[in-house]
Amino acid sequence: MEHYVIKGGNALSGEVEIAGAKNAALAILAASIMTNETVTVENVPDVSDIRAILKVIATIGAHVEQIDRHTFRINGSAIKKGEPVDNELVREIRGSYYLIGSLLGKYGKAAVALPGGCNIGLRPIDQHIKGFRALGADVRLVSPGMVVAEAEELTAAHIYMDVVSVGATINVMMAAVKAHGYTIIENAAREPHVVDLANFLNSMGAKIKGAGTDVIRIRGVEYLHGTNYSIIPDQIEAGTFMFAAAATKGDITIKNVIPKHLESISAKLTEVGCQIRESGDAVRVVANRRLLHTNVKTLPYPGFPTDMQPQITVLLGLCKGISIVTESIFENRFKYVDELTKMGASITVEGNTAIIDGVEKYTGANMDSPDLRAGAALVIAALAAEGDSEIYKIHYIERGYEDFPEKLRHLGAEIRKVDDENQRRRFQYRIS
Ligand code: EPZ
Repeated sequence: MEHYVIKGGNALSGEVEIAGAKNAALAILAASIMTNETVTVENVPDVSDIRAILKVIATIGAHVEQIDRHTFRINGSAIKKGEPVDNELVREIRGSYYLIGSLLGKYGKAAVALPGGCNIGLRPIDQHIKGFRALGADVRLVSPGMVVAEAEELTAAHIYMDVVSVGATINVMMAAVKAHGYTIIENAAREPHVVDLANFLNSMGAKIKGAGTDVIRIRGVEYLHGTNYSIIPDQIEAGTFMFAAAATKGDITIKNVIPKHLESISAKLTEVGCQIRESGDAVRVVANRRLLHTNVKTLPYPGFPTDMQPQITVLLGLCKGISIVTESIFENRFKYVDELTKMGASITVEGNTAIIDGVEKYTGANMDSPDLRAGAALVIAALAAEGDSEIYKIHYIERGYEDFPEKLRHLGAEIRKVDDENQRRRFQYRIS
């Protein structure tokens, strides 16, 4: 079974280049088929969730041409109205549900299998459905696990989201772009990828204002045209490397980032004692001593991201004093703590709160990734630990991190992806 073998203890140093944002790319690629003209999307990250969404849109009839590793030309003109979107891949990834909004907007009908994604909580889609219904769509769940949404004509509405949801904001925004009239989405999510999708749709002729605030206003248009668009850098990949620098007492410059998107992450790292220097599109993180405890609560953007919660917990597990981490977005996002305990961490989870008594060091262990971000966090723990670790179920990590072991090796980490016992022995021989 493929897994990572890691020899911990090296302080990471050097420069790392961040890929395009996975969660922006999922939405933008789903939206790219809303026009019958050709769309070129650049800075697409080469990760398994993105390869999956590209396959899904190709399966339903889109022409998908890869220009280079990170650039795709897409034409959705051959997709048929009402074509069911259902295969294994659709059910594996979360982003496939964006095809409900994009196909409903484009054709007035979408039939899409219920999405999968990381198992971090219940993840209902009631707000998506509420938004589609407000736009005049009839939405029903039909077996086996399909959402069917259809409308004679989509009409604008004033929609108040009961919870701040990235997915519902994105999905409803896509459908509303083609609805007649002026839609207002209140209590909208403000994440950078919501803004990136709005910018992408506007570059196709949509009229969206206010993305990035909690009120998004959309004037429906009849027609969307082709475009050339480059996806923003991945805020969470960047944050993950920032925490890897801090946990290994390293010095890393993270390039191709938008420092504004990293503010909550930089603020927490400064609080625990790291030095953060921003310059243009780069952020440098220096940690040259034992760091101090702090408290953190995950919140929708611009609050501290839930997708960085496992990474900060791993760091706080090594910081002096008692820290408290409160998860307020998902109800099942501390599953990785049992794995961290194997490394010597002292963490108690009570409901949605982790109480962390910082230890001096972790020691290597064999662990399973429970999901994408927790998997990345366990890699950070293993890099900071004394001794060797093995991390299994790395397909979760590969959903969202491009060339993760290669980038870490470039920063001085000893990490290899291996898939059999001989390879593992060879690697251990080399690093011992
Ligand atoms: C997106 O998930 C991201 N996924 C997640 O990233 C991220 O953790 C999450 O937003 C929060 O930032 C993608 O972009 C593909 P939500 P999403 O709708 O859209 C509740 C990663 O690691 N809710 O903002 O599914 C929900 O239960 C992944 O890259 C409803 O109650 O998240 C949660 O408590 C994991 N009803 C909260 O809202 C709804 O209809 C926020 O969820 C929708 C959501």
